[in-house]
Amino acid sequence: MKFTILSHAGLRVEHQGVSLVTDPWLIGSCYWRSWWNFPEPSAELLQSIQADFVYLTHLHWDHYHGPSLRRFFGPETTFLLPKVCTTRMMDDLRSMGYSRFVEIPHGSTYKMAADFTLCSYQFGVGVDSAAFIKGGGVSILNANDCKLFGQPLRHLLRKQGRPDFALRSHSSASPIPYCVEDYKRDFGDLRTQADYIEEFARFAISIGARHAIPFASNHCFLHRDTFHFNETAVSPNLVEKYCNQLSTEVNADTECVVMSPGSSWSQEHGFDLVDFDFERRPEVISEMARKYAPKLEAFYAEEEQELADFDAFRDYFRKFLAAVPWWIRRRWKPAMMFRVPDSRRTHFWFVEPATRTVKSVDYQMEDVAVIEVPPRVINDCTTLRMFSAWTPSKRLKIELPTPGALKSVKRFFTLVDAYELENLPLRNNLRPRHLGVILRRWREGAEATRLFVRHKMFRKPFDIPGLYPLPRVARDQTLSRPEVPKVTVSAPVQNRSEPTAAGSSSERGSFQPTTWVSVARRDDVESGKTLAVEHDGRQLALFRIEDRFFAIEDRCTHRGARLSGGRLEGCEIECPLHGGRFDVRDGSPKCLPAKAPVRCFEVREKGNHLQVALPAATAESGAQSSNSAKAEDVST
Ligand code: FES
Repeated sequence: MKFTILSHAGLRVEHQGVSLVTDPWLIGSCYWRSWWNFPEPSAELLQSIQADFVYLTHLHWDHYHGPSLRRFFGPETTFLLPKVCTTRMMDDLRSMGYSRFVEIPHGSTYKMAADFTLCSYQFGVGVDSAAFIKGGGVSILNANDCKLFGQPLRHLLRKQGRPDFALRSHSSASPIPYCVEDYKRDFGDLRTQADYIEEFARFAISIGARHAIPFASNHCFLHRDTFHFNETAVSPNLVEKYCNQLSTEVNADTECVVMSPGSSWSQEHGFDLVDFDFERRPEVISEMARKYAPKLEAFYAEEEQELADFDAFRDYFRKFLAAVPWWIRRRWKPAMMFRVPDSRRTHFWFVEPATRTVKSVDYQMEDVAVIEVPPRVINDCTTLRMFSAWTPSKRLKIELPTPGALKSVKRFFTLVDAYELENLPLRNNLRPRHLGVILRRWREGAEATRLFVRHKMFRKPFDIPGLYPLPRVARDQTLSRPEVPKVTVSAPVQNRSEPTAAGSSSERGSFQPTTWVSVARRDDVESGKTLAVEHDGRQLALFRIEDRFFAIEDRCTHRGARLSGGRLEGCEIECPLHGGRFDVRDGSPKCLPAKAPVRCFEVREKGNHLQVALPAATAESGAQSSNSAKAEDVST
């Protein structure tokens, strides 16, 4: 047997002349240009991609990537899919022209060759699945995002034995807590980077894996809305260091090995590792941001054309709330508000589950949980039923009236997953397919009951050592904890490579088609002052600093306040709402709570007029499909 790491969660396993690929996100980005493979697979590796079987663990786009599937796998490919309640994965593949599917019931094994098998295990409300792959006396547990524990995990190990290789994720794919405003204040201890590392190490050691491979967390963020999340990533080097240290401390024989894309292991040659210096992550991300700037800029322009679609939102939420049982809705407090800024204005959409109210209002209410989301994202979620793909994207900001309101937001994410996976309305679960799936997973129900009794009734702590007890180690024995140094990744400069004075005829650093538009007379902009102007619904703030002119989007990236109403000090404009500051020359954020750069535009003088280079409208904007994988067409 031989296996090769292809990408973020892409794995190829070859045995007896048959090849299996799992979760092949191989090219481009996913989640509305938020996530990018890091490090990227080489051109040589991509040329070698072929498979007889493709196993897709779950529907999230970093595992189920339409553009990669279409590029690398022909219609003759056989798809192995976990048999879950919804048939959506299969339906979407069918609409892409595929017709060969094998649905594997939970805990069942599919034989790909005489001595080459894959057993599929489902786990969790959002339905992730793990694959236990065996061949030639070697076993691989590809757990990726499937955080098995308790009875279901023990059952898997009893049935399959100790794996030779355990592949598992080691960083956050959830918007909680990182997308909560000022999360460090109230949720600084919730799911920290150290927790992810400790969980990975304890999982691998507790199941007795011979080798632990950090996996399914090798991505970075390049979209300007999510770039700052690069600082929340967990380096596989830290995972390796801690896992091996813990393994030594507890006398285990688990060895952690970092395998970057292209690295392989085979029975003949053992490990063949491709060198990649993860310590250079900030530099490599900056290089990628420059390399992909044209694609990102084109997508920003496309996004800016998108107008918020309240009708689609109302239709979706009315159906969704009708599917949620009344006894859940009545306890669902506080209400929620979606804030959707588009080029015309900021929309406020109010959702009160208890009364099934969905309405558009003119202002942001107090005492509600607020989620800000871009119009392109919310429109896709509501028209294509893909909220479940939204949460890992991190293309959202959550504002809470009190820390306790986080429960309300978590409940929404859980219920919307259940709705899109067709577990809501509850009567759906009486269908024969659903019953078959649910009954096979009875151990999860038993584990949930055990946890409820232990943690809710007896108030025992819910912690990682309890989830993954280590052999021969007492629960209260002191073991080392991971150490995570702070890493800073500089935000890319938007739309130009360096501050550019008015009068320059160059469009240096501007990567997309632009149109020069006259927005003001030169004399209208006083030195050291700000002038707010509007063109075709786009609001801009103009500045004159020592006879040089600059233009930025007149909207704070924190909560959307008009920056033109703020104080200009030197080259920095201070947001009037919460005091975030931006450098008007390049849009970079200079002071919290502003984290993401504000967009800036080139300015030139034409006679006594000031012209700004604005993105030309793109003809392709708004192309949609009913297929969730096709909605990622922009992503290559
Ligand atoms: S809106 Fe909060 S800093 Fe600008």
